[in-house]
Amino acid sequence: MATPTSPAFLLLLLHVFLFLLCTTNKGHTVSANETTKTVHANSLLPSSVCDQSNKVINRASSLKVVSKYGPCSATGDPKTFPSAAEIVLQDELRVKSIRARLSMNSSTTSVLGEKKTTIPSTRYGGGYTVAVGLGTPKKDFSLLFDTGSDLTWTQCEPCLGGCFPQKDEKFDPTKSTSYKNLSCLSEPCKSIAKESAQGCSSGTCLYGVEYGSGYTIGFLATETLTITPSDVFENFVIGCGEQNDGKFSGEAGLLGLGRSSIALPSQTSLKYKNLFSYCLPASSSSAGHLSFGGEVSNAAKFTPITTKFKELYGLDVAGISVEGRKLAIDASLF
Ligand SMILES: *[C@@H]1O[C@H](CO)[C@@H](O)[C@H](O)[C@H]1NC(C)=O
Ligand SMILES: *[C@@H]1O[C@H](CO)[C@@H](O)[C@H](O)[C@H]1NC(C)=O
Ligand SMILES: *[C@@H]1O[C@H](CO)[C@@H](O)[C@H](O)[C@H]1NC(C)=O
Repeated sequence: MATPTSPAFLLLLLHVFLFLLCTTNKGHTVSANETTKTVHANSLLPSSVCDQSNKVINRASSLKVVSKYGPCSATGDPKTFPSAAEIVLQDELRVKSIRARLSMNSSTTSVLGEKKTTIPSTRYGGGYTVAVGLGTPKKDFSLLFDTGSDLTWTQCEPCLGGCFPQKDEKFDPTKSTSYKNLSCLSEPCKSIAKESAQGCSSGTCLYGVEYGSGYTIGFLATETLTITPSDVFENFVIGCGEQNDGKFSGEAGLLGLGRSSIALPSQTSLKYKNLFSYCLPASSSSAGHLSFGGEVSNAAKFTPITTKFKELYGLDVAGISVEGRKLAIDASLF
């Protein structure tokens, strides 16, 4: 990850940049490289009251995002909220797990028995949740959203292998008329095999995804996913998790926003054109939003997604400034 930038890599970046430039409408200027993000230290301090003044942007395809570890969460239990130090530690473990994944150094042997990943920790993010609808009739489930993994899954009755406790009633496939198991010969079953563990049980596709400090194993299925009342996706590929454990406690599962064909952006690309954006809550006591599709604002600035990793969204960091002063960090360290 820390290798110096090669000329060939720069050329690739340039191509991506040119592509973005050409595809943005009305020929406005797009700045490619330097965007400054200011983080206010007080945003890290805990609060016990949910700030309702921070309204969710009222766009058609927006979901409200709340921190799992704050007073806005309907499913979080304040007694189990981690301290700031624990959250920082979790972040470090997440970075380690992403590095391990990128280095392709981890031996892969799965939860189902054949392969198992030795990724040290969580792939899922810092505990931000959204509520989406699943099934017919639709029921709402609170899911952690994760840009670092692909499969969307929920805990499924009858939890053959054991489920962790969750606040929402668990998803019961027998009570949904739109639930269908996927066969082992289906395309999604073949593509899950490329990135995760996959198996077959009397023609039905089984999957297994391990997150380091958690895992889910179950049936690969299709189900109706409701993002908003007007954005309903039939035959959306999900994992119906029959055996799940890890630091997901309280939530019903995970919403995968990664880059593979099985991730939400690909599965909904006809409607949303692979566009999504999110605004994390400014603090654990306010709400943000996760939005899909829409128009790209003319005021938007772009930076290329690095081509270094296929599966993850990566950026090339140019530098870090504190109070406007660029730190003397050798660029190769990024
Ligand atoms: C981007 O980088 C190039 C080369 O380093 C520089 O000339 C240009 O001004 C930068 N653009 C922005 C918007 O910072
Ligand atoms: C794999 O790990 C070993 C030792 O930890 C390291 O020397 C090697 O460079 C790594 N390989 C890759 C492809 O990252
Ligand atoms: C899905 O497959 C499992 C395991 O074979 C089975 O128990 C279940 O009834 C199937 N569900 C449907 C709706 O076919």
